[in-house]
Amino acid sequence: MRAVPYRMWTGYYLLLLAQQDYAPRTVLDIACGTGTMTEMLADEGLTMSGLDLSAGMIREAQRKNATSKYQIEYQVADATNFDLAEPVDAALSFFDSLNNLLDPSQLAGCFASVFRNLKPGGSWIFDLNTGYAFETELFDQSNLKRTAKLKYDWKGAWDPESRIITVTMNFWWKDEPFTEIHRQRAYEKDEVFDLLEAAGFVDIHAYHSYTLNPPRAKSDRLHYLCRKPG
Ligand SMILES: C[S@@+](CC[C@H](N)C(=O)[O-])C[C@H]1O[C@@H](n2cnc3c(N)ncnc32)[C@H](O)[C@@H]1O
Repeated sequence: MRAVPYRMWTGYYLLLLAQQDYAPRTVLDIACGTGTMTEMLADEGLTMSGLDLSAGMIREAQRKNATSKYQIEYQVADATNFDLAEPVDAALSFFDSLNNLLDPSQLAGCFASVFRNLKPGGSWIFDLNTGYAFETELFDQSNLKRTAKLKYDWKGAWDPESRIITVTMNFWWKDEPFTEIHRQRAYEKDEVFDLLEAAGFVDIHAYHSYTLNPPRAKSDRLHYLCRKPG
């Protein structure tokens, strides 16, 4: 994760909130992983909480938070169906986490859960990889340099019918091999807009990621912004 530009993503999230002319206080990071961006947003003055399906990710997020000056509430929960003790002003989900929801009904469940747990007027901002990314072999990556501590060689198999890519990720940690299989479903703008509208969201916009430009035919990732009616 060292190469992931979390600092830039944090700045971009704040820019998107400014684009919505909205200054939330409480923000939920959905599929927060180990909480790197969650912590950076706490640094920006937001009262953060996070959820993730993986108990291992949440354990690591809590371990990192134990030495932090912010009290971040982390919980193991499923993005497709969750309920918070208190509604929040805003929710976000970055790093194509929602592409892990392999059926549109799961994405619909996520949108319904976010809507339920947002205060009126609340903001919902997330990103999704597109089919273009998978068709153009975004996940075919490797670093097999002799000097690399973690070597990896990834290969994706894209199925245009199901719109699911299956990525076989071979790793070598200090030359010890292990393999992970990751699956993501590609979602396109019209499908996502329809699901957001069906959940009740308004003021729906999509941008070519890390810009304020509209989506292009060759966008590999889009950021979506919307609001719960006030
Ligand atoms: C690529 S990681 C991104 C993590 C974090 N957002 C970041 O930027 O570092 C995707 C995360 O999605 C989580 N995830 C996958 N399916 C989920 C679900 N149904 N509910 C909640 N989290 C989920 C995984 O456990 C993983 O931590």
